[in-house]
Amino acid sequence: MPTRTARQASSPEALLWAACHRLRRVNPPEPSSSPLGLFIALEGGDGSGKSTQGRLLCAWLEGLGHTVVVTREPGGTEFGRTVRQLVLHGGHVAPRAEALLFSADRAHHVETLIRPALGRGEVVITDRYMDSSIAYQGAARDLGIDEVRELNMWATGGLLPALTVLIDLPAEVGRARRRGVHDRLESEANTFHSAVREHFLTLARADPDRYLVVDGELPAEQIGQLVRDRVSTLPGVML
Ligand code: TYD
Repeated sequence: MPTRTARQASSPEALLWAACHRLRRVNPPEPSSSPLGLFIALEGGDGSGKSTQGRLLCAWLEGLGHTVVVTREPGGTEFGRTVRQLVLHGGHVAPRAEALLFSADRAHHVETLIRPALGRGEVVITDRYMDSSIAYQGAARDLGIDEVRELNMWATGGLLPALTVLIDLPAEVGRARRRGVHDRLESEANTFHSAVREHFLTLARADPDRYLVVDGELPAEQIGQLVRDRVSTLPGVML
């Protein structure tokens, strides 16, 4: 007669538990918000004006007494600048390799720059984060939204921004604003950029507490005010 413990260990419930534990070990971590500091991401299509908004928000937060780090993806670190060159300005990159390169840049960015700044209680504003991978590689490149999200949750240890500002712009308006040489992604057709836009909006609609969607055709100063209004409601912002 097997002991109670032995019988339990081989029961269907026990086997299910063991499988769940194994799965938990390989599954991406649960989402987590910024420890101590404040983490804000700016997202949007190419030419939507994210970097202008990053600068405006930084100046306002510094004026309130915060220490602010403005950074970007890909290319917020020295390693990332090498990745940026490969993924945006080199020759053909296979779609899965492209997704892995963006997530490698992000993993290094989070570990060496973003988490340390948040740990010091600073504000980090990043021009693009994992939603860009989900929208560009997952949706527009059709690599799978869930797969790309999981890859990036694993790469970042589940770090999510407290707020993502989505600067929404029709693809053709973004294209008209971009002049000069286009990088590999910018050179994609309007249908690609429209799919990116739609997916950004889907992400924002699914989690309104974590997103602010602003009309990218408004004047930059007006967008800046909408961003400040929302950021001023976040916990930890000194007013
Ligand atoms: P960048 O010159 O930084 O453009 P922008 O000023 O519009 O942000 O180029 C980044 C390009 O890389 C842009 O076309 C979006 C793309 N990208 C992805 O496809 N996936 C990603 O994960 C990231 C971060 C960017």
